[in-house]
This record gives sequence, structure tokens and C-alpha cells, in this order.
Amino acid sequence: MPTASLPVTSDPSPGPAHVAIIMDGNGRWAKARGLPRAAGHRRGADAVRRVVRGAGELGIPMLTLFAFSTENWARPADEVADLMGLLRHYLRSELDELLRNGARLRVIGNREGLPEDIVRGISDAERQTQSNTRIDVNICVNYGARHEILQATRNLARRVAAGELSPERIDEQHFERELLTAGLPDPDLVIRTSGEQRISNFLLWQCAYAELVFVDTLWPDFGKDHLQQAIAEFRRRERRYGGIGR
Ligand code: IPE
Ligand code: IPE
Ligand code: MG
Repeated sequence: MPTASLPVTSDPSPGPAHVAIIMDGNGRWAKARGLPRAAGHRRGADAVRRVVRGAGELGIPMLTLFAFSTENWARPADEVADLMGLLRHYLRSELDELLRNGARLRVIGNREGLPEDIVRGISDAERQTQSNTRIDVNICVNYGARHEILQATRNLARRVAAGELSPERIDEQHFERELLTAGLPDPDLVIRTSGEQRISNFLLWQCAYAELVFVDTLWPDFGKDHLQQAIAEFRRRERRYGGIGR
């Protein structure tokens, strides 16, 4: 007697609502080809375009990309200038692509440390994409989680000192409202490329229960297929949040 076969795509576990990526390996990609590091960063920017488009096609509601950390200022001045130049270029050249993809852009990080024209470019791009609803794209620039947590602590301490808030009332919700990610859902899945297995000061509070997937692929080679594989890995995980699971 013939038995009904399961559809090949049947998958009961939900996909991640928020995927965050630590985009790493541009320098090694360039070095392996005898090219300057800047060439790796340029190809890294191409990968951003591909992955934003791919994430939209895969129906991922929110994508957060770590582009430049507070610690990356320690790199040689010409490399920092190359990275800022790419960001400046990206904000201009990718605006149409973001609009076409229905993407709402947010830049997360400390704007005070960034060149003025870049800050203006960020505000422009955020404003022009603010009513898009297909995918939220957050790019972390001049972002460091410890700095963010300290800033939140300072803000709460000021409110306590001003008599507006009692220390006992500070709970997770209060704290989250002071973070740069206020109002955004925590990442469900964090992917880091290039084989490194560390967090490097990325979304420390928000990633408390994220699933981590480390892949060997260098960021300039990363694309929609890799994203899809990481999501498949995520779906195989059992998230327990301290409980005892299934
Ligand atoms: C990621 O690639 C880009 C940034 C961190 C700005 P890297 O530049 O860190 O590349 P590797 O780690 O040196 O290969
Ligand atoms: C993490 O990559 C930061 C970004 C991807 C922007 P790094 O290359 O700066 O991290 P470490 O120094 O290897 O930890
Ligand atoms: Mg690196």
C-alpha cells in the first residue's frame, strides 16, 4: 500500500526572526590573494549587498550586521580611512537597493565618534527608508557593547540621582530601554564568519540566549546559500532558556 510521503520541505521549527552577523575575514581574504586589505573590505561591502538581498528573499524579518567596532579604531589610520570611505560610499550607492528591497535601515553605534558627513548620510538613509516594512537592516558602526552598557548604566544612575527612579524599580525592561537597541527584538541567531569563535564585544546584553553559529567562510565569500545553511543549523538547535526542553 502506498504511503503518503512527507513534503521534503516540511520543517516544524520556526526560523530566526532576527539574525545578526559578525562579518569577519576581509583582511584574510585579501591576504590570500596577495591584495591589499582594502580590496577585502570592498568585496566585503559586495557581500553585504548580496546578504541583505538574500535575507529579504528568505523572509528574515530583521538582519543586524557588525561593520565597525569601537575597538577597530586601533587599526592603522589608512585602513580606518578606507573603512569610513566605504561606509560613506555604501550609504549613497545602496540607498536605491535598500528601497528596492523594502529595507528599513538603522545604524546602531556611537555617532559622536564618526565624521560629520557620514552622520548626515546615516540620518538621510534612515529617514528615506523608515517606512519600509519588508526587512529591518541594522548596521552596527562604531559599536561596542561594553560602551553601550556603561552608557545605559550612566543614564539610569542620573535618573536615580535626580530622584526620578528608585534603584529597586530598575528591571530588565528599564535597562533595555536605555540600550541603543531599545525596542528591537534580541537576535535569535548570531553568525560569525572566518572561523573565529568569539563575540568581540558585540550585543553582549542582547545575545544572552542567541544561538551561535561559527562558519569558516571568509566574509567576502559569504552569500545567501551560507545564510540558508546557518538557518538550517539554527532550526536543528533546541532552545531551552534554562528549562529542561522537549
Ligand atoms: C572584518 O574583516 C571587517 C572589520 C572588522 C572592519 P577584518 O578586517 O577583521 O578581516 P581579518 O579578520 O583581518 O581577516
Ligand atoms: C569584529 O571583528 C568586529 C567587526 C566585525 C566589525 P574583529 O576582526 O575586529 O574582531 P577581533 O579583533 O578578531 O576579535
Ligand atoms: Mg577580523
